[in-house]
Amino acid sequence: MQKKLIDWYFLNKRDFPWRKNENPYAIWISEIMLQQTTTEAVIPYYNRFMKRFPTIQSLSSASLEDIYKMWEGLGYYRRAKHIHETANVIATKYNGLFPTSYKDVLALKGIGPYTAGAICSIAYHLETPAIDGNVLRIISRVYHIQDNIALSQTQKQITNIVQDLLKGYDASSFNQGLMDLGATICRPLNPKCEQCPIQSHCQAYATNQQKILPINIKNIKHKELNYITGLITYKDQYMLIQNKQGLLENLYGLIQYECESPYSFIEEFEKEYGYTLTIDSYIKDIKHIFTHRTWHMHVYHFVLDNPNKYLYTFDELSQLPISTAHLKVLKTRI
Ligand code: ADE
Repeated sequence: MQKKLIDWYFLNKRDFPWRKNENPYAIWISEIMLQQTTTEAVIPYYNRFMKRFPTIQSLSSASLEDIYKMWEGLGYYRRAKHIHETANVIATKYNGLFPTSYKDVLALKGIGPYTAGAICSIAYHLETPAIDGNVLRIISRVYHIQDNIALSQTQKQITNIVQDLLKGYDASSFNQGLMDLGATICRPLNPKCEQCPIQSHCQAYATNQQKILPINIKNIKHKELNYITGLITYKDQYMLIQNKQGLLENLYGLIQYECESPYSFIEEFEKEYGYTLTIDSYIKDIKHIFTHRTWHMHVYHFVLDNPNKYLYTFDELSQLPISTAHLKVLKTRI
């Protein structure tokens, strides 16, 4: 099977600019760009980037802004930041030479097991698997694996299979052969089994399961969170803060902590804001369900000893964008 796939790859490989050499630097840049972006969208960015930064040295002397500029429009900008950091690490820690072991490559910022496997196999011909969704699908079909490929144990099983398959074969051609097979033949919908170079090895094809496999059931874990939620007042005003990040970024909300008693709430609050609170009363428990989480808010009324800059009257509150969860809490005051 390996030989059939590799022979097929040599005859049919897609023509990409990053396939014209085995420079680990160039392979690295291409693999980072390809992480969250289609090959088609990457091509012009890759060419421009390599023209502007032809070597690791030229990249490591560039500013983050220079790199962002080349990345503009490609999306997922954290990748550009990681490239900048990694270029500097390579310049200082590795004398400007891209590291050559899987372990060292994997340790670089922005490089996970898939990308490390792809770089090491393509640039160095190391027998490292590069397991992504395409490979999970192909192997699940070829070996008739009926386990859920979204589970890490299934992914480990498939990684082991590919590791064995690579032994004694050119990992660069094999891994890239899988990439191209997954993109053009063994597609998620309507696979072109009649054109597949490894059809005779495929147990899904033999049993006509190619339109059923792989089983891919993503387990969206639903989190249950318990909060002490503070209805904090000063005279006729309520204390609200604007969320800087997270689920409800930019919305205003009440202060809440994942703690177990209103007394620990007071401690947390004093630590964070430096104001003293007095507990007035328990109000009620309120539940709010989001897509991926449920908040159980145990609402208490606290009173501030001094005013601060986060206070709003009820009238002012109506002008602020407030999360639905906390509107439910504020409505208990009407
Ligand atoms: N997707 C991720 N890496 C790739 C590569 N080297 N060639 C084509 N598609 C890819």
